[in-house]
Amino acid sequence: MVTIVIGAQWGDEGKGKIVDFFAKQADYVVRFNGGNNAGHTIINKYGKFANHLVPAGIFHKKAVSLITNGVVVDPEVLILEIETIKKAGIDLNNRLFLSPRCHLILPYHKALDALYEQAKGKGKTGTTGRGIGPAYADKVSYNGIRIADLLDDKIFAEKLKFQLDLKNKIIQALGGKPLFYNQIYKEYLDLGKRLKPYARETFTILNEAMDKKKNIIFEGAQGVFLDNDWGTYPFVSASSVVSGNATAGAGIPPQKIGRIVGVAKAYATRVGEGPFPTELFDKDGEKLRKEGKEFGTTTGRPRRCGWFDSELIRFAARLNGFTEIILTKLDILDGFAKIKICTGYRLNGKSVNYVDGDSLFLAKIKPVYQEIKGWKMTTAGIKRFADLPKQAKDYIKTIEELVGVRISYISNGAKSHEIVKV
Ligand code: GDP
Ligand code: IMO
Ligand code: MG
Repeated sequence: MVTIVIGAQWGDEGKGKIVDFFAKQADYVVRFNGGNNAGHTIINKYGKFANHLVPAGIFHKKAVSLITNGVVVDPEVLILEIETIKKAGIDLNNRLFLSPRCHLILPYHKALDALYEQAKGKGKTGTTGRGIGPAYADKVSYNGIRIADLLDDKIFAEKLKFQLDLKNKIIQALGGKPLFYNQIYKEYLDLGKRLKPYARETFTILNEAMDKKKNIIFEGAQGVFLDNDWGTYPFVSASSVVSGNATAGAGIPPQKIGRIVGVAKAYATRVGEGPFPTELFDKDGEKLRKEGKEFGTTTGRPRRCGWFDSELIRFAARLNGFTEIILTKLDILDGFAKIKICTGYRLNGKSVNYVDGDSLFLAKIKPVYQEIKGWKMTTAGIKRFADLPKQAKDYIKTIEELVGVRISYISNGAKSHEIVKV
């Protein structure tokens, strides 16, 4: 069975926690998009982790973790993460594989990310500064350097020299300082040697696993509205975030996909710039940020907070084919006397949809709200759906009806076992 877990909002929905929960029964867990712009928090018996590249399934002995071709890899970050995980007592031998087709994030990508943001000034994207956009840009414009290149001294030297010369011209034109070849070459060649034991064609591993009917979980990074095509462009990320990209990002045919899980927070958050129709600028917004500890896992930036937007999730469900939704952080709404749900959008007195326009359009629409009564009691520690307060059950049912997809679980705490089957 192939299951894909997708963030249904602007990232940070709790995908790491959900994948860690599912991975108990998994044979393989696969990262297929994005890079270390992702920060997936996992709190389990080994401790608290913020995985940026290593799949969240690494904590389950039976599960093999794959980083496939669709991911862009910063070798320095991956090595650091491998060290952290090993230190926690996890054996990685034959349990983590990295596709030789993965493109590298090199120091000039990070320099360019910062320079583009600086040049854009007020119009900046608010990237994580990890070099993601420039690395994917090099990939699609045939200027990328891949893991396979890094593992060959001569090829790496040749490609790095050529690319660095090109990039230094751009860096200097934008007012930056040129980077030095010798330093980067030595440092990255060494990182490559340390990554070599993990490099293996993941296509073969995955296809053998599918032939044997293994249980495979795809761990999406970012969220639907950061998707390069379908998100709030240009306030998006560089990769394809949608479920369909598991096919190109990992090399599997579409008909192998069985289950597509959308993970959505019981409210909404966003880091970085861009339109956010249900954003709150009042006490409720502050309360969501405080109670939800809404600060970025990767950058520590405060996350913007707002009410649940069912117009967005309806679109996300159609786009990705969600077979179910998992609603996370329900416990964060415990203390609210009133909770709002956005049921749809209006513009100039007419009902409109997310897909009708771009990010300028989205900045103009007016969200329509339905208000429901809060439950004003703690849901933390509850293990059975029947034991949830009536208003919480009503909240879940209302969202199901508005979105048109079944909610299979609610998450009521940060730890992996804090989850309730609906
Ligand atoms: P991801 O990027 O989708 O994996 O999500 P992040 O890890 O970036 O952000 C989610 C945050 O919410 C993390 O701090 C998690 O520990 C936390 N979290 C996840 N699910 C729940 C939940 O149900 N309740 C609470 N209180 N925290 C949660
Ligand atoms: P996870 O997997 C939240 C956002 C950045 C910025 C935009 C572009 O943890 O959910 P980038 O560095 O990708 O070029 O930045 O995308 N962004 C995320 N926001 N969660 C993420 O990942 C994100 N990955 C990128 O904040 O707005
Ligand atoms: Mg995150």
